[in-house]
Amino acid sequence: MPNWMLYGATGFTGMLLAEEAVRRGHRPVLAGRSKAKLEPLARRLGLDYDTFALDDVYTPTGAVAGFDLVLHAAGPFTHTSAPMLHACLANGAHYLDITGEIPVYQQVFSHDAQARDKGIALIPGVGFDVVPTDCMALYVAQQVLNATTLDTVIDAIGGGGVSAGTSKSLLEILAAVGNVARRNGELVPIDLGGGARPFRSQGGTHTAVPIPWGDVETAYRTTGIPNITSYMVLKLPPAVQPLLPALGYVGQNLAKSALFRRLAGYWIDSAMRGSTPDAQEHERAYVYARASDGKGKAAEAWLETPEAYKFTALSAIRAVEKTLAQQPIGALTPALAFGADFVCEIEGTRRYDAQPRQTKRASRVGHSL
Ligand SMILES: NC(=O)c1ccc[n+]([C@@H]2O[C@H](COP(=O)([O-])OP(=O)(O)OC[C@H]3O[C@@H](n4cnc5c(N)ncnc54)[C@H](OP(=O)(O)O)[C@@H]3O)[C@@H](O)[C@H]2O)c1
Repeated sequence: MPNWMLYGATGFTGMLLAEEAVRRGHRPVLAGRSKAKLEPLARRLGLDYDTFALDDVYTPTGAVAGFDLVLHAAGPFTHTSAPMLHACLANGAHYLDITGEIPVYQQVFSHDAQARDKGIALIPGVGFDVVPTDCMALYVAQQVLNATTLDTVIDAIGGGGVSAGTSKSLLEILAAVGNVARRNGELVPIDLGGGARPFRSQGGTHTAVPIPWGDVETAYRTTGIPNITSYMVLKLPPAVQPLLPALGYVGQNLAKSALFRRLAGYWIDSAMRGSTPDAQEHERAYVYARASDGKGKAAEAWLETPEAYKFTALSAIRAVEKTLAQQPIGALTPALAFGADFVCEIEGTRRYDAQPRQTKRASRVGHSL
């Protein structure tokens, strides 16, 4: 039985990961900084646990010794990734995480040479951010020689709610890099709430706005396409749409204040509970990707997945299994590690080609970008 650790197991998403791991017959050691939270979870799932903090780069090094792999789920990762990354490199353990934070992707990818020296894989973003769009980016890029532009669109906001960790991580992204797209190979700032475009998705035509999704870093590493914009579908009342640029301006500037992030963090902890079991069971998420060469050649594809948190649990545990089975080496995106079709292995996920004929289901998520 492979010997791996799930750190951050007591978080909303960490618990989903732990449950999915057990469902698939794994016995990871659960880890986190709070014994009071870990102990009952480990008892309920019949697993061992270890309590240690990530306050410095030394503590986790000893705790990770002897493990083949760590799946890291404690975020915001801006505050937690470096010590765990260091511990994995020091111990020759594969490092996987579920981050969506651009600076964390950059930091992990910068350790490619050390990972190769150690013969281990560093694979950030094995959850909904960024497996679906990363695999879709590679899928469409492989169909367009020398593609120059990639657009990805996520339609994933259901009624189920988001977790505290997701909300705080979004604030950290906005504080660290703001809203960004990739232009001519470089990350460039774009106004939050600006650049809205119509997108035909579930239930009609909605507004899609550029967001700082992991793709601007990860899909660039995966495909080398120099111009990348990631969009999120917002199903807003028409009266709110003209206010988006102003709301984005305020939101982006507030996120830069450490005091605001701290105060917002208290409110987020009390109010953001994550998606409901009902939403995880019944809601669906949709992804679209299009690569083009600017000279008339383009490829596009659609994807339908389980609800984003459920998808994260399914894809992260599948990524653990594939890493242990295939032993990839280096700092890799999910698509580079496991291929464009990895996303199609995730239960309840289906990819659709736009042409020549769409299935009835795919036609419901048509685009108009
Ligand atoms: N890639 C994706 O699609 C995806 C999907 C879901 C979540 N995520 C990310 O995963 C992270 C966790 O999300 P969540 O929903 O589980 O949030 P959550 O319910 O707020 O849980 C956060 C977890 O991280 C731990 N933690 C936070 N700061 C820590 C630190 N400095 N040292 C040690 N542990 C720390 C918490 O421990 P305590 O309980 O002791 O505070 C808790 O276990 C977030 O960054 C979120 O953005 C990504």
